[in-house]
Amino acid sequence: MVSTRRDVLPDAMSHRPRYSVEHLLRRRMHGMVLPGFDRIAGPPAPRVTTYIHEAAGLAVAGLGGSHGSSVISCTPCVSRGASAIAETDSGARLFVKALGPGGFGYENEAVVLGLLGDARKSGIRVPAPELLFWDPVRHVLATTEVGHSASLDVVLRTADARAAATASTLVGRALATVHAARVDVGPLAAEGRVHPFPLDDLADLTPSELSSGVGVDFDEFVACVQSVSAELGRLREERFDPVLVHGDLRAPNVLVGQSRDPAEDGAVFVDWELACVGDVAADVGTVLAEALATDLAVHGDIRTAGLWNRIFLDSYQGRSPMDEESVLRSVRYCGTQLIRGTLSRLEHQGTLGRVGRLQLILGSAILRDPARSKGVAW
Ligand SMILES: Nc1ncnc2c1ncn2[C@@H]1O[C@H](COP(=O)(O)OP(=O)(O)O)[C@@H](O)[C@H]1O
Ligand SMILES: [Mg+2]
Repeated sequence: MVSTRRDVLPDAMSHRPRYSVEHLLRRRMHGMVLPGFDRIAGPPAPRVTTYIHEAAGLAVAGLGGSHGSSVISCTPCVSRGASAIAETDSGARLFVKALGPGGFGYENEAVVLGLLGDARKSGIRVPAPELLFWDPVRHVLATTEVGHSASLDVVLRTADARAAATASTLVGRALATVHAARVDVGPLAAEGRVHPFPLDDLADLTPSELSSGVGVDFDEFVACVQSVSAELGRLREERFDPVLVHGDLRAPNVLVGQSRDPAEDGAVFVDWELACVGDVAADVGTVLAEALATDLAVHGDIRTAGLWNRIFLDSYQGRSPMDEESVLRSVRYCGTQLIRGTLSRLEHQGTLGRVGRLQLILGSAILRDPARSKGVAW
């Protein structure tokens, strides 16, 4: 059984490292060259398994013939690392991911998919792929393929109102299933895999660290985070019911069923690398933020995301009701996620751009006064 009190969790919950700007940049932006800051260089990272084809072969061999004996093709997936859908000589298809050193995420993903597999055995329809193979030395992970699906970002961008509404319903239902499953989080909590509060690293920066930022946009970003730091502080201190959360529900990690038979359709969450013990509001808030960020990116405005978010929340609540306070906490997490999203724009593009600025303004406004955004953003 899962305890409902946060204070039973290990010390990891209260441990908050402080990062300097330099450390932050090294950690998050190594390999990039940003204006005015040319010293960013990470350690060379040799890959444990370079070729995804080789990794797929390893998985198929490890499966002992149950999924065929050789790999016929590997279709790469859009991924930070190397991943692909592998097809074997017996016609089996599996998703394979192969990562380099520093592979904490893959190991975590294997552990969590194992816990979800146990939940599945007890009759819960867990919206996640099944773990088929895991090699902890060569960091190769294989799962079942989620077929006939499109990722949530693709669905929301197609501007097909019905498809977007259906997707929002399916995602709400699937997420509530994960949170209500009461998966035994003991093994994760014991290893300290407890959700670090988003934006902790930036909210803790001192004024002198702030002034040594990397450029105009970075200063703007940090100033904005500082302006909401009191709200961030409050959110961080609040108690919550610790359950298994996905922790990285960005839209590409949410696959929505597109089969011909609607009865078979559902949403499935992939990429459980960051799953841990946390607050349901973090997952719910991330989905809300993804819809808003998509709307801003496509229209430069919030047009349809408010509606998608209401549909999503209704569907979630239909299976796993939240009290008003938890809904508002989810909305506040949504604000933090929008701000986080702008950080990754800075990482990848070196500048916020118009959409990044809009997202930053929206995120801070929501975080400051979540109730006011009701009827617009959710
Ligand atoms: N089981 C699966 N079946 C089908 N496609 C998948 C599956 N798992 C992941 N994908 C696709 O591959 C992409 C990359 O996988 P993911 O686990 O998210 O890796 P990364 O950690 O690199 O983001 C996903 O965004 C999704 O489009
Ligand atoms: Mg992913």
